[in-house]
Amino acid sequence: MTTHATPPVLGIPGATPELAATLRGGLERVDALLREVVDHDDPFIAQASGHLLEAGGKRFRPLLTLLAAELGDGINDDVVRAAAGVELTHLASLYHDDVMDDGRMRRGVTSANVAFGNSTAILVGDLLFGKASELVAGLGAEAVLIQAQTFVRLCAGQIRDDRDCPEGVDPVDYYLGVLADKTGVLIATAGRYGVMFSGGSAETAETLRLYGEKVGIAFQLADDLIDIESESGESGKLPGTDLREGVDTLAVLRARALADPSRPQDARLLELLDADLSDDDAAVAEALELLRAHPGLEQAREETFAVARDAQRLLDPLPDSDAKAALQALALSVVERAG
Ligand code: IPE
Ligand code: IPE
Ligand code: MG
Ligand code: MG
Repeated sequence: MTTHATPPVLGIPGATPELAATLRGGLERVDALLREVVDHDDPFIAQASGHLLEAGGKRFRPLLTLLAAELGDGINDDVVRAAAGVELTHLASLYHDDVMDDGRMRRGVTSANVAFGNSTAILVGDLLFGKASELVAGLGAEAVLIQAQTFVRLCAGQIRDDRDCPEGVDPVDYYLGVLADKTGVLIATAGRYGVMFSGGSAETAETLRLYGEKVGIAFQLADDLIDIESESGESGKLPGTDLREGVDTLAVLRARALADPSRPQDARLLELLDADLSDDDAAVAEALELLRAHPGLEQAREETFAVARDAQRLLDPLPDSDAKAALQALALSVVERAG
């Protein structure tokens, strides 16, 4: 295989230079393991399963595992294996998500569904999930159980993400529940594994699980804002995908609630939000423009920051350390990011 640069570490403003160097070293080990694991004798399978790995990505989840390990005795082989298992599970879910969402661009490259077709994208996602399970199996039965339960919740979240909010359920509650499942649980497991495999206490592992789930919700809320606000390229994805797919993210839910149909812009926005935008790029662009100017977006942003602050508070029981300060900064960097 060709050699690759280490992906950039998502900025951790609160990390000391020493901690940042430790994390970079850990990420290099995780990446080497990932590349080894996704390789395959069949050149096409190797190409298709390496497609998104080679394209980059932020490696946010393995970074959290490595950072959480600093709350125990630090990074070791099991921590690296757990971090790679979590990233592979995430990677598998991206292949499937782009089939579901008819994604076109991912990590700055053509998404696998477009590059190789839906069948290959689905099967490569399954294959990668199998590889993740194989890695996690080396960590023992408890890790496998957690991995299985995590994946069940992730899939349940994805299934519900694809469906309308049921009658009689508050749409914001429904939506936040979907986010906790489809995104929060895997990030929770990333934090929990880091403590578990570095010899940290069960209590600290639970703190990181709770923190990870909140950070994960904030992470997805920020992702949803980026889908509305970013210019193409910045995020490596195509903006407007949620609108095109008819997914009402928090900004849309808030805009709907605040909209005054006697204002022409609001009436037009509501009309567009209720239309089928799946094949109408001009209408998606118009809806994005109206949403960017709508106070519903600002409200969603404030709520997103509030979730990040809730996550920070969950760390209060931990004694002060460089790792704790970095985890606090990480919660905020997740919602301040542009890609
Ligand atoms: C994308 O995750 C899917 C979401 C849960 C929002 P990331 O934003 O972590 O994607 P990569 O790994 O950096 O490509
Ligand atoms: C993806 O959610 C969540 C998972 C992959 C589990 P989205 O559909 O919002 O993520 P992006 O924007 O395509 O990365
Ligand atoms: Mg999706
Ligand atoms: Mg998607």
